[in-house]
Amino acid sequence: MESGFIRVADISEIEAGKTKKVTAGDMEVLIVNFDGVFHAVDSLCTHYGGDLSEGKLEGNILTCPIHGAKFVVTTGKVVSPPTEPLDRPEIENLPTYPLKIENQEIFIKI
Ligand code: FES
Repeated sequence: MESGFIRVADISEIEAGKTKKVTAGDMEVLIVNFDGVFHAVDSLCTHYGGDLSEGKLEGNILTCPIHGAKFVVTTGKVVSPPTEPLDRPEIENLPTYPLKIENQEIFIKI
């Protein structure tokens, strides 16, 4: 395995349409299985740090459980801003991380 990649899960642990929060180094990252393809994104919402592992995944869109911001899991791009609080409607895209699969195991680089 290329250096810098950390093993975080086995592919059998995350069914299609599901997510799993994993620890990589001192970071928590969300692994998403969208249609059999795995992606790694930050597990904390870029708004007020909502736990996206508690969010709802519909297709390739992940909705934050706190104020409803929506992100594309394949790119981290924001497609819908938070519905509140209105004093802070701005929001950054979600960081994404390189991910590889080798021998049924998922590795990410952070
Ligand atoms: S914490 Fe995620 S939308 Fe506010």
